[in-house]
Amino acid sequence: MTEKVLIGIIGGSGLYHLDNLTFLKHVNPETPWGFPSSPISICSLPSGIQVAFLARHGTGHTISPSAVPARANIAALKSLGVRAIVAFSAVGSLREEISPGSFALPSQIIDRTKGVRAASFFEGTSIVAHASFGDPFSGKLVSWLEDRVRKALEQEGRGVKLFMDKCIVCMEGPQFSTRAESIMYRQWGGDLINMSVLPEAKLAREAELSYALIATATDYDAWRPHSDTVTAAEVFKTLKANADTSRLVAATVLDELHAAVSASGENFLLEQVGSMSFSIMP
Ligand code: ADE
Repeated sequence: MTEKVLIGIIGGSGLYHLDNLTFLKHVNPETPWGFPSSPISICSLPSGIQVAFLARHGTGHTISPSAVPARANIAALKSLGVRAIVAFSAVGSLREEISPGSFALPSQIIDRTKGVRAASFFEGTSIVAHASFGDPFSGKLVSWLEDRVRKALEQEGRGVKLFMDKCIVCMEGPQFSTRAESIMYRQWGGDLINMSVLPEAKLAREAELSYALIATATDYDAWRPHSDTVTAAEVFKTLKANADTSRLVAATVLDELHAAVSASGENFLLEQVGSMSFSIMP
């Protein structure tokens, strides 16, 4: 089957492959921003539909959040024909009800990265371009995913909850937050925290790709007064179960998502971000 690859999946911590799908080949496109984090796996669903999978931190988790080549990652996926990206990320929870093991489809982001990440395809060019980012995720893709992800979680039967409409804080790292910062983020309206959704979401928007994040909670960060603050070991504890559930969710929704994107022409699940020129994209 030589269908186009329309859907890209980005895996975060713990999710380095989709080994419940059939692996077909690796591709490693060089972009004007270098190579992606890892060679991209082209995988096939039982229907023959092909999808592209990219491990954000490299397949051996060798790339820290601040060093992820996000421009190359987005440009490489776009160069394969990808039009919608479903990204997974391990996150901390800033709310009691979002217990470790829960999933969320956030709708807002607070940027606490510290300007050290290249966050625009237009940086270093003479093009001045301002993409809309008030709604940083593709609302159409997020609402399309809601029922399907919920159904996949119900089918799995482990009682994993799905939260909608949450605000994720993206911090620089690599150290986790202080207790004071964690409490401040809650006061700001943050519900989740990670180190990876930016600049990925900004670049997907500039590249006019639909982008949604499936956030998988691993810990309660540092805001709970009578609990220890988060450690890497605590994050690792829930990573494997979250990754297994993420693979199941991906396998369950991808056929239908491919069909929806394919049927949508240029615009249905894709964001309309104005008339930006992507002549600098490969
Ligand atoms: N990723 C997973 N847990 C996190 C936390 N508490 N803070 C930032 N990034 C995270």
